[in-house]
Amino acid sequence: MKVGVVGAGTMGRGIGQVFAQAGHNVRIIDVSPDALNFARKDIANSLERLEKKGKIKETPEEIMKRIELLNSVESLEEMDMVIEAVFERLNIKQETLKSISSVVRDDTIIGSNTSSISIDVLSGSVKNRERFLGIHFFNPVPVMSLVEIVPSQSTSRDVLEKSRDILVSIGKDPVFSKNFPGFISNRILMPLIREAILTYEQGIASPADIDKTFRLGMNHPMGPLELADFIGLDVCYDIMEVLYRDFGEPSFKPPITLKNMVDGGYFGRKSGKGFYDYEVKK
Ligand code: 3HC
Repeated sequence: MKVGVVGAGTMGRGIGQVFAQAGHNVRIIDVSPDALNFARKDIANSLERLEKKGKIKETPEEIMKRIELLNSVESLEEMDMVIEAVFERLNIKQETLKSISSVVRDDTIIGSNTSSISIDVLSGSVKNRERFLGIHFFNPVPVMSLVEIVPSQSTSRDVLEKSRDILVSIGKDPVFSKNFPGFISNRILMPLIREAILTYEQGIASPADIDKTFRLGMNHPMGPLELADFIGLDVCYDIMEVLYRDFGEPSFKPPITLKNMVDGGYFGRKSGKGFYDYEVKK
């Protein structure tokens, strides 16, 4: 297949990589040349890690040959499937989907990697609503096998089944969720992260002890604050805002500490500072 991915951020890079690993020809689109340069390096690093562990049959160079990094959605004309993975902002996603929809073939499947925005709302930005759905991947995409598949009210059964088969064929293990705020994953994960932040905010325990509780007491690979830093505090904030607005329940309200951190440019791992300090890779 020919697969397009729009947005070369953490998720877009990972999504492009896993399709290329499975033998598909991939075009990753981003308007920022820096993002595209970083994507090339980051995907190559990830493939080298997988090669060292014996998890890929081809060399990283062979897989990289199937990935093109380009700066315009115009080059997505011939794609069989396109996945939008731009910022988690409604207007940016709507504009991106409109431009994807105006260049692709009528039978192209368009997926959105949104983590919380309504698939019905987003479906209003594409020409063929029946060929559009939510396809929500997890970070790091090359490692995490879960994908949430979320239909809008207009997604056809054929597109749902075809998308599931494609995702299984690239090594993913999908679940289906109705289009409801946060789907399955973030509806449950974000309140956990929120309570962890409030536990810290109220001076009950340090970030290290909150995270240790979940690593050693519940066998989570990362504690909730480490995970929030890993996901991106800005991303967590945006998701909580959507959940809070759509459910209207205080149990989803983003904590003030989280807002202050995001306002101050503390985005977690990617910015070098969150609940912990990190080295930033360029
Ligand atoms: N590319 C390739 N391989 C990678 C990788 C990458 N980007 N990142 C990690 N790996 C591999 C490592 O090579 C290693 O392989 P091995 O098991 O064969 O040895 C394995 O993954 C584990 O990595 P590390 O040994 O470096 O480090 P850890 O053991 O600490 O694992 C982790 C790192 C996989 C990130 C683990 O901490 C983890 O699973 N954390 C939780 C991640 C999580 O919950 N993600 C979901 C976030 S929610 C989300 O994405 C939804 C959104 O909407 C918010």
